[in-house]
Amino acid sequence: METPRLLTPLVQQDPDPSAAVLVERIQALKARHNAIILAHNYQIGEVQDVADYVGDSLELARFAARTDADTIVFCGVHFMAETAKILNPGRRVVVPDLKAGCPMSDMITPEEVDRLRGQHPDAVVVTYVNSPAAVKAKSDICCTSANAVRIVQSIPEGTPVIFIPDQFLGDYVQRATGRKMILFEGYCPTHMRIMSADIDLARYEHPDALIIAHPECQPEVAVKSDVVASTSRMASSVRESQAHTVVVGTELGMIHRLRKENPEKEFIPACSTCDCANMKVNSLEKILWALEDLSPEILLPEEIIRDARTALDRMLEHS
Ligand code: 13P
Ligand code: SF4
Repeated sequence: METPRLLTPLVQQDPDPSAAVLVERIQALKARHNAIILAHNYQIGEVQDVADYVGDSLELARFAARTDADTIVFCGVHFMAETAKILNPGRRVVVPDLKAGCPMSDMITPEEVDRLRGQHPDAVVVTYVNSPAAVKAKSDICCTSANAVRIVQSIPEGTPVIFIPDQFLGDYVQRATGRKMILFEGYCPTHMRIMSADIDLARYEHPDALIIAHPECQPEVAVKSDVVASTSRMASSVRESQAHTVVVGTELGMIHRLRKENPEKEFIPACSTCDCANMKVNSLEKILWALEDLSPEILLPEEIIRDARTALDRMLEHS
């Protein structure tokens, strides 16, 4: 008898029949307010499905920067909505739930940036977008997981680089560029749950599978995976791959988009607890309330917008 496998596909949930009514009301309010809905690749399926655009942090930032909608309903986490506001301050940016934060972003403060600059006065500060607006405002240039390698490569050889706040994305960039950087010790508590042993088990039980991982994963996980990329780049790698089975080394919400784009393929989470609770607080009901009240709104001081924008604009010039 064959031994049952430990790593198995995620069970697909049936659609909620009450969702159709909510979607209809959301669409009507969207038209009334000239609003658009942006959603990150980790949002729950219903939220992704009602969105006008679903993407990774870089794509969402680019989309937000050029939209002429009056209101952006941003379904992701707080730093992503802040980024949209900074890049397009004339638009109203609302979120379904202000509690959708990012623990990694909360690990870094403006005071910490000042301290690091004091220790390394000649260094360029490269800040991952998973950071508060006030930290971006103190940075030289921002990056996302999609362009971090390119951004660091754009800095002249020999210039010291302080990379904040994700030590694992920083480590990935160091390996990709061969460049040593000053790393801050932040991390994503969700991606931290994926262990090297999970990838070993996946290879053993699914030897023909494509293994994809996010660069926020621990280095032992990243080096053992076939593709290490931003969430949208993971999606394109899966579309391009011949593999029938894909082991997903990132937040579980990603599997909704992967299944939708590749209905014939099988998706297996590398770790069944890799769930970002913050990404999951948004819902159709909360989108509807945000559109009814045009609140809660993201508001930032003018000088923070001005200074953070410089760092974000420099990033977009290189992307
Ligand atoms: P992406 O920019 O790759 O979508 O990642 C954002 C994120 O928060 C990953 O945890
Ligand atoms: Fe932040 Fe990690 Fe959640 Fe991404 S998955 S939003 S980095 S806590």
